[in-house]
Amino acid sequence: MEDLRITMRMNLGKERYEHTLGVAYTAACLAGLYGVDTTKALRAGLLHDCAKCFDSESILYLCKKYGISISEVERRNPTSLLHSKVGAKYAADEYGEKDDEVLAAIEHHTTGRPDMSMLEKIIFVADYMEPGRDKASNLYEIRKLAFSDIDKALVKILQDTLEYLSSKNKEIDPATKRTLEYYSGQQ
Ligand SMILES: [Fe+2]
Ligand SMILES: [Fe+2]
Repeated sequence: MEDLRITMRMNLGKERYEHTLGVAYTAACLAGLYGVDTTKALRAGLLHDCAKCFDSESILYLCKKYGISISEVERRNPTSLLHSKVGAKYAADEYGEKDDEVLAAIEHHTTGRPDMSMLEKIIFVADYMEPGRDKASNLYEIRKLAFSDIDKALVKILQDTLEYLSSKNKEIDPATKRTLEYYSGQQ
């Protein structure tokens, strides 16, 4: 684990590395609470944004290389929407990550998906609420929910994300809406 942390410190910019550490440690705390392997949570946290440093052109190139199919909305927003799918392949390819659960958590950390594993939920939530995050609204409520009922935290994050994107006239990936519909129906 120490090796991976050092590698990520070398490969990510200072700010992204700080965020990455925040996600890894927040995920490890949640993993301990929800009975998930802490080492997997740390690895998924450390690797989740490993492809976020790439520009749009590189992301699209890597999608082609890894055979990732791209929707129209993803093609228009490659870095923000595709760094997670590319990141999962890149984590396996470049960092030797072999664990399918870890790779799935990286792959789905941006939009989530219906019926996520607990590790997927943990990385999704940790990405939003790690200690370095201070701009999103309702962080106090979300952090409290994350440690008491992670599905409720998930719903709140998805609602707030959709609201934020709409308020900024930013494009919404239908995958985010599908995740919200699924988890709203579970409450
Ligand atoms: Fe990300
Ligand atoms: Fe992130």
